Amino acid sequence: MRIGVPRETRSDERRVAATPETVKKLADKGHEVLVERGAGLASSIPDADFAAAGAHLVDGDNAWAAELVLKVQRPQPRADGHEVERLADGSTLLSFVYPGDDEELLASLARKRITVLAMEAVPRISRAQNMDALSSMANIAGYRAVLEAAQLFPRYLPMLMTAAGRIPPAQVLVVGAGVAGLSAIATAKRLGAVVKAFDTRPAVKDQVKSVGGEFLEIELDASAEDKGGYARAATAEQTEKIKALLHNTAVSSDIVITTALIGGRTAPRLIETDTVRAMKPGSVVVDLAVEGGGNVACSERGAAIQVNGVWVLGYTNLAARMPFDASRLYARNVLNLLTHFHGKQGYVLDLADEITSGVAIMHAGEARVEAMRPQASLPSPGAN
Ligand code: NAI
Repeated sequence: MRIGVPRETRSDERRVAATPETVKKLADKGHEVLVERGAGLASSIPDADFAAAGAHLVDGDNAWAAELVLKVQRPQPRADGHEVERLADGSTLLSFVYPGDDEELLASLARKRITVLAMEAVPRISRAQNMDALSSMANIAGYRAVLEAAQLFPRYLPMLMTAAGRIPPAQVLVVGAGVAGLSAIATAKRLGAVVKAFDTRPAVKDQVKSVGGEFLEIELDASAEDKGGYARAATAEQTEKIKALLHNTAVSSDIVITTALIGGRTAPRLIETDTVRAMKPGSVVVDLAVEGGGNVACSERGAAIQVNGVWVLGYTNLAARMPFDASRLYARNVLNLLTHFHGKQGYVLDLADEITSGVAIMHAGEARVEAMRPQASLPSPGAN
């Protein structure tokens, strides 16, 4: 099969959907891999490394015209025409898609009878863990969120005993201890901060402890977890209790990182502007949930703003700020998904299979409504 890897063109995107490692594995299986010249440069992967791995370097729209196109971002509008028009009729596109906010894109894909495999729709089940790009990217985002905060924070994170006296450690609060949150807790702890964390699911208490955080507990009357262990949305009453806890903890914290989300819903608003105003000047708040509506009332999508001397970061697409490793992990997730499809006859989409059915949001131009789960329609193309 001819597999194309075009260069990403969204302005904040630096990742690439294949790496020399995954190209070599695809080429070893007999596929012809067409990598657009320069596709890896923003990820520090030179063309020569792709060529040495067995890729054919191509120019123009050749990578787009392949039978299977591997991308990070969905096709983008460009001055010289929408990228969707570069796809060959009847071909397959594999990328983050987040179709919920672009009906026109879906209509164009349908017109061209494209099969669309959406990376954000990989089910979060153990069998699919090695294909779960949302988790790999959230892990990076949690790490990077701490570094972004540390860079603006005018103090040390670790405790220091110096000849000039003792410097106390920074206090970090992490809200939401899922993939991004646990990664942020572990990173802040490694940098020497004292870390507290809160999540509505009491089951994550041990995980928080195991990465060095202190779990904040409050009594929430109904269970915050469903039978499958997934978070339930907090009630209005529970949210008020959570807000009070977070207010009291945030005002004595130096860095607050929020990651609270329930798949498919708008992010719960947990930190009001009054709380931010009450924090010490020089403190930093990072709202990772900004694209899902934001956990912090005053965060602005894509921006770093100051409120009363407190930085509030609403950066999106944090994974793209670490493009080498983000590409490496994303490309492996993509390869693992392709391997899952691979049978004796090559790539076959078995729509009866839970993973395949989840990711195939469009099959030969037919939108598969049952696969368009809310998770797949969150308006967050950069969150991956
Ligand atoms: P996840 O689903 O693994 O974790 C979310 C956690 O929030 C869960 O543990 C859940 O129990 C908790 N939660 C839900 N409601 C809560 C509440 N009211 N109070 C406290 N905790 C609550 O999600 P993941 O993968 O860790 O992603 C977290 C967020 O980060 C998402 O909003 C995601 O879109 C975003 N993200 C943003 C990126 C960026 O560049 N800005 C990159 C990657 C992820």
